[in-house]
Amino acid sequence: MSSLLTQQGSDVRSYLGSLERSRWSRTEAVRPRVFSLAGRDWDLLDQVFAPPHHASTAVALELLGITAPSPVTLTGTLLEIGSGTGVIAVSAALRHCRTVVAADINPHAVENTALNAERHGVAHRVRSLHSDLFSGLGPDERFDTVVWSSNYVLAPTDFEYRAVHERAYVDPGYAAHRRYLAEARNWTTEGGRVLLHFSSRGDLAALGAIASATGCRLRLLKSTSVLEGADLIVHQLFEVVAG
Ligand SMILES: C[S@@+](CC[C@H](N)C(=O)[O-])C[C@H]1O[C@@H](n2cnc3c(N)ncnc32)[C@H](O)[C@@H]1O
Repeated sequence: MSSLLTQQGSDVRSYLGSLERSRWSRTEAVRPRVFSLAGRDWDLLDQVFAPPHHASTAVALELLGITAPSPVTLTGTLLEIGSGTGVIAVSAALRHCRTVVAADINPHAVENTALNAERHGVAHRVRSLHSDLFSGLGPDERFDTVVWSSNYVLAPTDFEYRAVHERAYVDPGYAAHRRYLAEARNWTTEGGRVLLHFSSRGDLAALGAIASATGCRLRLLKSTSVLEGADLIVHQLFEVVAG
C-alpha cells in the first residue's frame, strides 16, 4: 500500500469506491427532495448527482468565487458542462453572469436544472440543455467561461455505465476528459477561459498526459482540501491553456 493510501485510509482513486458512492447516493432513504446549500433551497430529482451527499458542489462554489474569494470571477456568459441539479449554473446567474447555458448528458439533470432555475427566478437567463459535452450547442455559440466540475475518477476504458447517475462519478479511460480538453477552447469568446474542477480522487498524471497530447496544459488557479469521510481530498481548479 502506498504511503498516500496509508495516510488517507482508503484508495480515494478507486473507481469501485466511487461506484459504491453512486449506489449509496441513489438509495431512496438518504435522498431529500429538497436540500439547502449556499443559503438557498434546491430541488433534487432521482438519478441526479446529490450535492448534500458529497463535498464537491460546495467546494466548486468556493473555487469559482461564488461563495468565497477566488482568482476567478464568473461574469458575462457561462457554459457549465455537467450542471446536475443546477446549483452552480443558477448561483452564477444570481451573481454576475448575464446568461448561462447549463448542459448535462443526464436528462434528469437537465430537468432538475430547469426546475431550480425556475425556483430562483432565473429561467429566462439559464438555458438547460441535454448535451454530451458540446454536442447540443449551436455552431456559433461562444462563452466567456466554460467550466466542468467533472466525473474525475478514472474507470477502466472498457467500463460500461449501468445507470446514468454513475456518469457523475467516473469517466472510462478519461474519454470525456480527453474530448473536453481537446474541444472546450473552441467554444470560448476571444479572451474567454476554460476551467476544470478536478480532485485527488482523479489521476492527475493521466490527465496531464492527455492535456499534452491534445496541445494544452493545466494551470492551477486554486486548490482546497476537504475531509470527505476519513479521506482528505484536494480539490483543484485548473485553467486549460494552450500549450
Ligand atoms: C460531479 S457531477 C457535478 C454536478 C454539478 N455540477 C454539481 O456540482 O453538483 C458531474 C456532472 O457531469 C455530467 N456529465 C458527465 N459526463 C458528461 C458529458 N459527457 N456531457 C455532459 N455532462 C456530463 C454528469 O451527468 C454530472 O451531472
